[in-house]
Amino acid sequence: MTRPRADLDVSSTFLEPERFPPDEPLRWAELFGDDRPVVLEIGSGKGLFLANAASKRPAHGFFGIEIAKKYARLAAERVVKAGLTNVRMWPGDAGHLMARRVVPASLREVHVYFPDPWWKKRHKKRRVFNETLVDSIARALAPEGELHVATDVEEYFGVIRELVGNDPRFVQIDPPPLGEPESDSDYLTNFERKYRIEGRPVYRSSYRLASAPR
Ligand SMILES: C[S@@+](CC[C@H](N)C(=O)[O-])C[C@H]1O[C@@H](n2cnc3c(N)ncnc32)[C@H](O)[C@@H]1O
Repeated sequence: MTRPRADLDVSSTFLEPERFPPDEPLRWAELFGDDRPVVLEIGSGKGLFLANAASKRPAHGFFGIEIAKKYARLAAERVVKAGLTNVRMWPGDAGHLMARRVVPASLREVHVYFPDPWWKKRHKKRRVFNETLVDSIARALAPEGELHVATDVEEYFGVIRELVGNDPRFVQIDPPPLGEPESDSDYLTNFERKYRIEGRPVYRSSYRLASAPR
């Protein structure tokens, strides 16, 4: 298991929630230094998606939320080591942040990759992808904004498709194609790499915010 490196300065990327007034909306322009389009990822793990996407799209701002502080720190280290300046990592709960701290219609995209399935019936209420999150995402996305989801858990995928696919605020679109990876870092996320190498199925779906009044 990789350990965070105390000697690496990640202060440009790793945000300290204690420094922000509680429950006040985040101002993307202040966080990124300009008015760029913002892409948000829920449950970033060690930050492979953020690092790859941020290097391919330098004019966008990428905001990762990761509840495990250690992973949030590792993700920040990954992007700092890659010399990327357009990523910010928030160590904290995505459900809370999405419900309380995102300015309505302010995000270009939301990505949720391999959310923890919480297999046991009594634990399923801990799942991050639920009705409340869908409401928060619908509120947070700008017109024509996109939601991209992937999971290896067929049952969870069914729940997500029911929640979003039956919601008139969203229209289903084709997920972006996955390329043939040429290196270890050439995957969508760490979990996508693990499951693809193991030959396990990966279920993906994408949605666009419908233009009809909500
Ligand atoms: C199975 S891992 C997937 C990580 C990464 N998306 C990937 O595909 O490699 C799920 C991640 O979501 C994080 N997570 C779980 N609940 C969360 C929440 N409420 N808010 C933010 N992150 C959360 C976990 O700590 C974990 O890093």
